[in-house]
Amino acid sequence: MIIVRDRYGRKIEYLRVSVTQNCNLKCIYCVPDRATAKLAGQEEVAAAGSVPYHSCAATLKPEEFEAIIRGMAELGIKKVRITGGEPLTRPDICEIVSRTAAIPGIADLSMTTNGVCLDKMADDLKRAGLRRLNISLDSLKKDRFEYITGGGRLNNVLDGIDRALEVGLEPIKINTVLIKGVNDGEVDDFINLTKDRPVEVRFIELMPIGKFGEDNRDNAVLNSHIIASHPELVLCEDNKSSLPAQYYSIKGYKGKIGFISSLSHKFCSSCNRIRLTCDGKIKPCLGNNGEVDIVEILRTQPQKLAKHIRDIIFNKPEGHNFDKKYTSTRNMNAIGG
Ligand code: 5AD
Repeated sequence: MIIVRDRYGRKIEYLRVSVTQNCNLKCIYCVPDRATAKLAGQEEVAAAGSVPYHSCAATLKPEEFEAIIRGMAELGIKKVRITGGEPLTRPDICEIVSRTAAIPGIADLSMTTNGVCLDKMADDLKRAGLRRLNISLDSLKKDRFEYITGGGRLNNVLDGIDRALEVGLEPIKINTVLIKGVNDGEVDDFINLTKDRPVEVRFIELMPIGKFGEDNRDNAVLNSHIIASHPELVLCEDNKSSLPAQYYSIKGYKGKIGFISSLSHKFCSSCNRIRLTCDGKIKPCLGNNGEVDIVEILRTQPQKLAKHIRDIIFNKPEGHNFDKKYTSTRNMNAIGG
Protein backbone atom coordinates (compact mmCIF):
# COMPACT_ATOMS: atom_id res chain seq x y z
CA MET A 1 0.00 0.00 0.00
CA ILE A 2 1.30 3.43 -0.99
CA ILE A 3 1.63 5.98 1.77
CA VAL A 4 1.44 9.56 0.57
CA ARG A 5 3.13 12.17 2.69
CA ASP A 6 3.12 15.91 2.30
CA ARG A 7 6.26 18.06 2.27
CA TYR A 8 6.19 18.17 6.09
CA GLY A 9 6.16 14.39 6.39
CA ARG A 10 2.53 14.09 7.43
CA LYS A 11 0.82 10.91 6.30
CA ILE A 12 -2.43 11.82 4.53
CA GLU A 13 -5.06 9.13 5.09
CA TYR A 14 -8.34 10.93 5.66
CA LEU A 15 -10.61 12.54 3.06
CA ARG A 16 -13.67 14.65 3.84
CA VAL A 17 -16.09 14.85 0.94
CA SER A 18 -18.64 17.66 0.90
CA VAL A 19 -21.38 16.34 -1.39
CA THR A 20 -23.61 19.44 -1.42
CA GLN A 21 -23.67 23.04 -0.21
CA ASN A 22 -27.40 22.89 0.42
CA CYS A 23 -28.91 22.41 3.82
CA ASN A 24 -32.38 22.09 5.29
CA LEU A 25 -31.40 24.22 8.30
CA LYS A 26 -30.17 27.81 8.48
CA CYS A 27 -27.73 27.81 11.39
CA ILE A 28 -26.36 31.16 12.52
CA TYR A 29 -22.78 30.27 11.66
CA CYS A 30 -23.70 29.29 8.10
CA VAL A 31 -26.34 31.97 7.48
CA PRO A 32 -24.94 34.88 9.49
CA ASP A 33 -27.42 37.48 8.13
CA ARG A 34 -29.88 36.04 10.61
CA ALA A 35 -27.68 36.81 13.59
CA THR A 36 -27.03 40.36 12.38
CA ALA A 37 -30.75 40.90 11.82
CA LYS A 38 -31.50 39.70 15.33
CA LEU A 39 -29.13 42.29 16.78
CA ALA A 40 -30.79 44.96 14.62
CA GLY A 41 -34.21 43.94 15.93
CA GLN A 42 -35.37 42.60 12.55
CA GLU A 43 -37.08 39.57 14.01
CA GLU A 44 -38.63 38.39 10.77
CA VAL A 45 -35.34 38.26 8.90
CA ALA A 46 -33.69 36.73 11.95
CA ALA A 47 -36.21 33.92 11.93
CA ALA A 48 -36.26 33.29 8.20
CA GLY A 49 -32.78 34.28 7.07
CA SER A 50 -31.58 34.47 3.52
CA VAL A 51 -30.36 31.12 2.44
CA PRO A 52 -27.42 31.23 0.05
CA TYR A 53 -28.39 28.09 -1.76
CA HIS A 54 -26.73 27.07 -4.90
CA SER A 55 -27.75 25.88 -8.25
CA CYS A 56 -25.59 22.87 -8.66
CA ALA A 57 -24.47 22.75 -12.28
CA ALA A 58 -20.89 22.05 -11.20
CA THR A 59 -21.84 19.53 -8.54
CA LEU A 60 -20.19 16.18 -8.99
CA LYS A 61 -22.24 13.08 -9.76
CA PRO A 62 -21.99 9.89 -7.68
CA GLU A 63 -19.77 8.20 -10.27
CA GLU A 64 -17.44 11.23 -10.28
CA PHE A 65 -17.10 11.18 -6.50
CA GLU A 66 -16.39 7.49 -6.82
CA ALA A 67 -13.67 7.98 -9.43
CA ILE A 68 -11.90 10.60 -7.31
CA ILE A 69 -12.17 8.62 -4.08
CA ARG A 70 -10.98 5.48 -5.86
CA GLY A 71 -7.93 7.40 -7.08
CA MET A 72 -7.30 8.68 -3.58
CA ALA A 73 -7.67 5.23 -2.05
CA GLU A 74 -4.89 4.10 -4.37
CA LEU A 75 -2.77 6.89 -2.88
CA GLY A 76 -3.37 5.69 0.66
CA ILE A 77 -6.62 7.36 1.75
CA LYS A 78 -8.27 4.92 4.17
CA LYS A 79 -10.90 6.94 5.87
CA VAL A 80 -13.73 8.93 4.23
CA ARG A 81 -16.28 11.22 5.85
CA ILE A 82 -19.23 12.50 3.83
CA THR A 83 -20.26 16.04 4.73
CA GLY A 84 -22.20 18.95 3.20
CA GLY A 85 -24.11 21.28 3.55
CA GLU A 86 -26.45 18.58 4.69
CA PRO A 87 -25.60 15.35 2.86
CA LEU A 88 -29.07 13.87 3.39
CA THR A 89 -30.59 16.59 1.17
CA ARG A 90 -29.06 14.82 -1.85
CA PRO A 91 -31.60 12.37 -3.25
CA ASP A 92 -28.74 10.16 -4.46
CA ILE A 93 -26.93 10.08 -1.09
CA CYS A 94 -27.30 6.31 -0.62
CA GLU A 95 -25.76 5.75 -4.05
CA ILE A 96 -22.78 7.93 -3.08
CA VAL A 97 -22.43 5.95 0.16
CA SER A 98 -22.64 2.53 -1.47
CA ARG A 99 -20.21 3.45 -4.28
CA THR A 100 -17.74 4.71 -1.67
CA ALA A 101 -18.20 1.73 0.63
CA ALA A 102 -17.31 -0.62 -2.25
CA ILE A 103 -13.93 1.00 -2.95
CA PRO A 104 -11.04 -1.26 -1.90
CA GLY A 105 -8.91 0.35 0.78
CA ILE A 106 -11.65 2.49 2.34
CA ALA A 107 -11.76 0.99 5.81
CA ASP A 108 -13.84 3.62 7.55
CA LEU A 109 -16.84 5.43 6.06
CA SER A 110 -18.72 7.97 8.14
CA MET A 111 -20.97 10.98 7.68
CA THR A 112 -21.62 14.30 9.40
CA THR A 113 -25.32 15.23 9.37
CA ASN A 114 -27.65 17.60 11.18
CA GLY A 115 -29.83 14.57 11.90
CA VAL A 116 -33.08 16.14 10.71
CA CYS A 117 -33.87 13.35 8.21
CA LEU A 118 -32.06 10.61 10.04
CA ASP A 119 -35.08 8.96 11.59
CA LYS A 120 -36.28 8.10 8.07
CA MET A 121 -32.91 7.42 6.48
CA ALA A 122 -30.77 5.64 9.07
CA ASP A 123 -31.80 2.19 7.84
CA ASP A 124 -31.01 2.88 4.20
CA LEU A 125 -27.69 4.47 5.08
CA LYS A 126 -26.67 1.49 7.15
CA ARG A 127 -27.66 -0.86 4.34
CA ALA A 128 -25.70 1.24 1.82
CA GLY A 129 -22.55 0.63 3.85
CA LEU A 130 -22.23 3.64 6.15
CA ARG A 131 -20.45 2.72 9.40
CA ARG A 132 -20.99 5.61 11.77
CA LEU A 133 -22.26 9.14 12.20
CA ASN A 134 -21.42 12.54 13.59
CA ILE A 135 -24.46 14.63 14.37
CA SER A 136 -24.34 18.41 14.74
CA LEU A 137 -26.42 19.55 17.69
CA ASP A 138 -25.96 22.91 19.36
CA SER A 139 -28.86 23.05 21.80
CA LEU A 140 -31.01 20.66 23.78
CA LYS A 141 -33.63 23.31 24.39
CA LYS A 142 -36.46 23.35 21.86
CA ASP A 143 -36.72 27.13 21.43
CA ARG A 144 -33.00 27.74 21.38
CA PHE A 145 -32.48 24.95 18.89
CA GLU A 146 -35.11 26.58 16.71
CA TYR A 147 -33.33 29.94 16.98
CA ILE A 148 -29.83 28.59 16.27
CA THR A 149 -31.00 26.52 13.30
CA GLY A 150 -33.49 29.02 11.86
CA GLY A 151 -36.58 26.91 12.45
CA GLY A 152 -35.32 23.37 12.98
CA ARG A 153 -37.16 20.96 15.26
CA LEU A 154 -35.15 19.43 18.04
CA ASN A 155 -37.31 16.32 18.26
CA ASN A 156 -36.46 15.33 14.69
CA VAL A 157 -32.78 15.22 15.63
CA LEU A 158 -33.32 13.38 18.92
CA ASP A 159 -35.48 10.79 17.14
CA GLY A 160 -32.76 10.50 14.50
CA ILE A 161 -30.10 9.83 17.14
CA ASP A 162 -32.22 7.08 18.72
CA ARG A 163 -32.90 5.49 15.33
CA ALA A 164 -29.22 5.60 14.37
CA LEU A 165 -28.33 3.86 17.65
CA GLU A 166 -31.01 1.24 16.94
CA VAL A 167 -29.69 0.36 13.50
CA GLY A 168 -26.11 0.27 14.79
CA LEU A 169 -24.59 3.33 13.14
CA GLU A 170 -22.07 3.51 15.96
CA PRO A 171 -20.29 5.15 17.61
CA ILE A 172 -22.44 8.27 17.42
CA LYS A 173 -20.59 11.50 17.96
CA ILE A 174 -22.46 14.69 18.72
CA ASN A 175 -20.76 17.90 17.59
CA THR A 176 -21.56 20.96 19.65
CA VAL A 177 -20.25 24.45 18.92
CA LEU A 178 -20.61 26.64 22.00
CA ILE A 179 -21.09 30.37 21.57
CA LYS A 180 -20.98 32.79 24.51
CA GLY A 181 -24.38 34.27 25.23
CA VAL A 182 -26.15 31.76 22.97
CA ASN A 183 -25.75 28.19 24.25
CA ASP A 184 -22.80 28.25 26.65
CA GLY A 185 -25.19 27.63 29.55
CA GLU A 186 -25.89 24.12 28.26
CA VAL A 187 -22.51 22.51 28.89
CA ASP A 188 -23.83 20.40 31.78
CA ASP A 189 -26.89 19.27 29.81
CA PHE A 190 -24.66 18.08 26.97
CA ILE A 191 -22.33 16.30 29.37
CA ASN A 192 -25.40 14.65 30.92
CA LEU A 193 -26.34 13.19 27.53
CA THR A 194 -23.43 10.82 28.00
CA LYS A 195 -24.78 9.46 31.26
CA ASP A 196 -27.25 6.91 29.89
CA ARG A 197 -26.40 6.89 26.18
CA PRO A 198 -23.24 5.47 24.60
CA VAL A 199 -22.65 8.69 22.67
CA GLU A 200 -19.59 10.90 22.40
CA VAL A 201 -20.36 14.59 22.90
CA ARG A 202 -17.65 16.78 21.41
CA PHE A 203 -17.28 20.48 22.07
CA ILE A 204 -15.78 22.23 19.03
CA GLU A 205 -14.35 25.70 19.47
CA LEU A 206 -16.01 28.21 17.13
CA MET A 207 -13.60 28.86 14.27
CA PRO A 208 -13.42 32.13 12.33
CA ILE A 209 -14.93 30.65 9.20
CA GLY A 210 -17.68 32.73 7.60
CA LYS A 211 -18.89 36.12 8.78
CA PHE A 212 -20.46 34.86 12.00
CA GLY A 213 -17.30 33.07 13.12
CA GLU A 214 -15.16 36.09 12.26
CA ASP A 215 -17.47 38.56 14.02
CA ASN A 216 -17.62 36.27 17.05
CA ARG A 217 -13.92 35.55 17.54
CA ASP A 218 -14.33 36.78 21.11
CA ASN A 219 -17.41 34.66 21.71
CA ALA A 220 -15.78 31.29 21.16
CA VAL A 221 -15.88 29.20 24.34
CA LEU A 222 -12.42 27.81 25.03
CA ASN A 223 -12.43 24.14 25.91
CA SER A 224 -9.76 24.60 28.58
CA HIS A 225 -12.32 26.61 30.59
CA ILE A 226 -14.86 23.78 30.46
CA ILE A 227 -12.26 21.20 31.49
CA ALA A 228 -11.03 23.39 34.36
CA SER A 229 -14.54 23.90 35.71
CA HIS A 230 -15.47 20.18 35.55
CA PRO A 231 -13.05 18.29 37.79
CA GLU A 232 -15.19 15.15 37.44
CA LEU A 233 -13.89 14.77 33.86
CA VAL A 234 -11.15 12.15 33.68
CA LEU A 235 -8.79 12.13 30.68
CA CYS A 236 -9.13 8.88 28.70
CA GLU A 237 -6.00 6.85 28.22
CA ASP A 238 -6.31 5.95 24.56
CA ASN A 239 -6.37 9.49 23.22
CA LYS A 240 -3.83 9.18 20.42
CA SER A 241 -6.19 7.39 18.04
CA SER A 242 -8.94 9.97 18.44
CA LEU A 243 -6.97 13.06 17.48
CA PRO A 244 -7.81 15.92 17.08
CA ALA A 245 -10.43 15.23 19.77
CA GLN A 246 -9.20 14.74 23.33
CA TYR A 247 -11.61 12.50 25.21
CA TYR A 248 -12.66 12.55 28.84
CA SER A 249 -15.16 10.42 30.72
CA ILE A 250 -17.08 10.55 33.96
CA LYS A 251 -17.13 7.53 36.23
CA GLY A 252 -20.26 5.44 35.65
CA TYR A 253 -21.31 7.29 32.48
CA LYS A 254 -21.90 5.30 29.30
CA GLY A 255 -20.58 7.89 26.85
CA LYS A 256 -17.56 10.16 26.58
CA ILE A 257 -16.89 13.87 26.27
CA GLY A 258 -14.50 15.11 23.62
CA PHE A 259 -12.84 18.45 23.06
CA ILE A 260 -11.75 19.76 19.68
CA SER A 261 -9.69 22.81 20.45
CA SER A 262 -8.84 24.18 17.03
CA LEU A 263 -8.18 27.63 18.47
CA SER A 264 -6.49 27.03 21.78
CA HIS A 265 -4.45 23.99 20.70
CA LYS A 266 -3.22 24.07 17.16
CA PHE A 267 -3.01 20.43 16.02
CA CYS A 268 -1.88 21.04 12.43
CA SER A 269 1.37 19.10 12.86
CA SER A 270 -0.66 15.89 13.18
CA CYS A 271 -3.23 16.77 10.50
CA ASN A 272 -3.87 13.79 8.23
CA ARG A 273 -6.75 15.11 6.16
CA ILE A 274 -7.69 16.76 2.92
CA ARG A 275 -11.09 17.90 1.67
CA LEU A 276 -13.01 17.57 -1.57
CA THR A 277 -15.77 20.10 -2.27
CA CYS A 278 -18.98 19.27 -4.12
CA ASP A 279 -17.86 21.39 -7.06
CA GLY A 280 -14.69 19.36 -7.50
CA LYS A 281 -12.01 21.34 -5.70
CA ILE A 282 -9.45 19.80 -3.38
CA LYS A 283 -8.97 21.94 -0.29
CA PRO A 284 -5.86 20.73 1.49
CA CYS A 285 -6.37 22.84 4.67
CA LEU A 286 -9.52 24.00 6.46
CA GLY A 287 -7.91 27.24 7.61
CA ASN A 288 -6.35 28.27 4.33
CA ASN A 289 -8.11 29.48 1.19
CA GLY A 290 -5.96 27.48 -1.22
CA GLU A 291 -7.90 25.01 -3.35
CA VAL A 292 -7.28 23.20 -6.62
CA ASP A 293 -9.90 22.34 -9.24
CA ILE A 294 -9.73 18.74 -10.39
CA VAL A 295 -12.93 18.60 -12.44
CA GLU A 296 -11.33 19.28 -15.80
CA ILE A 297 -8.59 16.75 -15.32
CA LEU A 298 -11.15 14.21 -14.05
CA ARG A 299 -13.37 14.71 -17.10
CA THR A 300 -10.69 15.03 -19.78
CA GLN A 301 -7.51 13.29 -18.61
CA PRO A 302 -8.45 10.87 -15.83
CA GLN A 303 -5.17 8.99 -16.27
CA LYS A 304 -3.36 12.08 -14.92
CA LEU A 305 -5.60 12.43 -11.86
CA ALA A 306 -3.49 10.43 -9.42
CA LYS A 307 -0.28 12.36 -10.14
CA HIS A 308 -2.20 15.63 -9.84
CA ILE A 309 -3.71 14.66 -6.47
CA ARG A 310 -0.33 13.53 -5.22
CA ASP A 311 1.11 16.99 -6.01
CA ILE A 312 -1.79 18.72 -4.26
CA ILE A 313 -1.26 16.59 -1.15
CA PHE A 314 2.48 17.26 -1.20
CA ASN A 315 1.78 21.00 -1.15
CA LYS A 316 -0.62 20.93 1.80
CA PRO A 317 0.01 24.07 3.90
CA GLU A 318 1.91 23.67 7.15
CA GLY A 319 -0.87 25.06 9.34
CA HIS A 320 -4.12 27.00 9.53
CA ASN A 321 -4.33 30.78 9.55
CA PHE A 322 -6.91 31.25 12.29
CA ASP A 323 -4.53 33.18 14.49
CA LYS A 324 -3.90 35.75 11.75
CA LYS A 325 -6.51 38.06 10.24
CA TYR A 326 -8.04 35.21 8.28
CA THR A 327 -11.07 35.59 6.02
CA SER A 328 -12.38 32.39 4.50
CA THR A 329 -13.56 32.54 0.90
CA ARG A 330 -15.96 29.69 1.64
CA ASN A 331 -18.68 29.50 4.21
CA MET A 332 -18.82 26.35 6.35
CA ASN A 333 -21.72 24.95 4.27
CA ALA A 334 -19.37 24.89 1.27
CA ILE A 335 -16.55 23.15 3.17
CA GLY A 336 -18.24 20.68 5.48
CA GLY A 337 -16.18 21.24 8.61
N1 5AD B 1 -16.52 26.67 13.95
C1 5AD B 1 -16.53 25.40 14.42
N2 5AD B 1 -17.37 24.45 14.01
C2 5AD B 1 -18.28 24.80 13.09
N3 5AD B 1 -19.24 24.09 12.50
C3 5AD B 1 -19.87 24.89 11.63
N4 5AD B 1 -19.34 26.13 11.65
C4 5AD B 1 -18.36 26.11 12.56
C5 5AD B 1 -17.41 27.05 13.02
N5 5AD B 1 -17.37 28.30 12.55
C6 5AD B 1 -19.47 22.68 12.81
C7 5AD B 1 -20.89 22.24 12.69
C8 5AD B 1 -20.74 20.79 12.27
C9 5AD B 1 -19.34 20.65 11.78
C10 5AD B 1 -19.27 20.11 10.40
O1 5AD B 1 -18.76 21.92 11.84
O2 5AD B 1 -21.56 22.34 13.88
O3 5AD B 1 -20.91 19.92 13.34
